[in-house]
Amino acid sequence: MAAVTSGSAVVVGVGAREGLGAALCRRFGREGLHVFPAGRTRERLEAVVGEIRSAGGAASALATDTTSEAEVARLFEAADAEAGGLALAVHNAGNMRVGNLAEMEAGFFEETWRTTCFGGFLVGREAARRMLPRGSGTLLFTGATASLRARPPFAAFASAKAALRALAFGLARELGPQGVHVGHVVVDGVIAGEQIRSRLPQVAERLGEDGMLATDAIADAYWHLHAQDRTAWTLELDLRPYKESF
Ligand SMILES: NC(=O)c1ccc[n+]([C@@H]2O[C@H](COP(=O)([O-])OP(=O)(O)OC[C@H]3O[C@@H](n4cnc5c(N)ncnc54)[C@H](OP(=O)(O)O)[C@@H]3O)[C@@H](O)[C@H]2O)c1
Repeated sequence: MAAVTSGSAVVVGVGAREGLGAALCRRFGREGLHVFPAGRTRERLEAVVGEIRSAGGAASALATDTTSEAEVARLFEAADAEAGGLALAVHNAGNMRVGNLAEMEAGFFEETWRTTCFGGFLVGREAARRMLPRGSGTLLFTGATASLRARPPFAAFASAKAALRALAFGLARELGPQGVHVGHVVVDGVIAGEQIRSRLPQVAERLGEDGMLATDAIADAYWHLHAQDRTAWTLELDLRPYKESF
């Protein structure tokens, strides 16, 4: 069964145009899907929508907080109403929050989990409710090195990413036999995007351009997962720069 190149794609966790979320949106738009970039900042979403439309694609912005059950449901309702229905959904929101556990406020820990894991559950559930009746669709989750390894000061973030990974594996076993492809992507390195350049420019400088994952290259991998024949599905894919030690 070939990739579905009609219908809509939802990407939850879209911010700066140099980030992974925006690159995924552009890629899916280029492939002919009607893209719904979703994040909390309307202006940033509008910028991504503008880029997709300028390239001849179709897109609609809907400001959405992944931790809001009502907002996530509204987003998926809108996306599924497009001709062809919902074909592809990605949960990409992650807050990479840092802090030592011994000094951490309970609210900080909970918020980290809420965005990363609970948000993933809401996105997964709403996607499943629309894909299962059709018996097709792709649901992808963005992981990180922290999905597999908890290292200070990322331990709270790691506990949330590990939980998201468990959610993805559980969904894959539940939805796969009913025709919905679930995938988890371990992004094992630094993304050459807005986050690193604005928060830690010295790290970006030290790694160099080919020491970080290029967002368009990651987006190629997500599209490959969506395009896989259902007799040979990948559940987990890990991606890292050639010179990353692991
Ligand atoms: N950056 C890295 O080096 C790196 C490395 C490995 C893995 N990852 C993973 O890759 C993914 C994307 O990372 P990225 O750095 O390239 O970021 P990005 O895709 O540029 O942006 C993700 C966007 O998610 C949005 N977001 C945050 N909280 C949200 C919420 N509650 N609801 C909806 N949207 C929310 C933010 O925009 P608003 O604030 O406007 O909502 C943020 O800009 C994340 O899952 C991250 O954990 C990143």
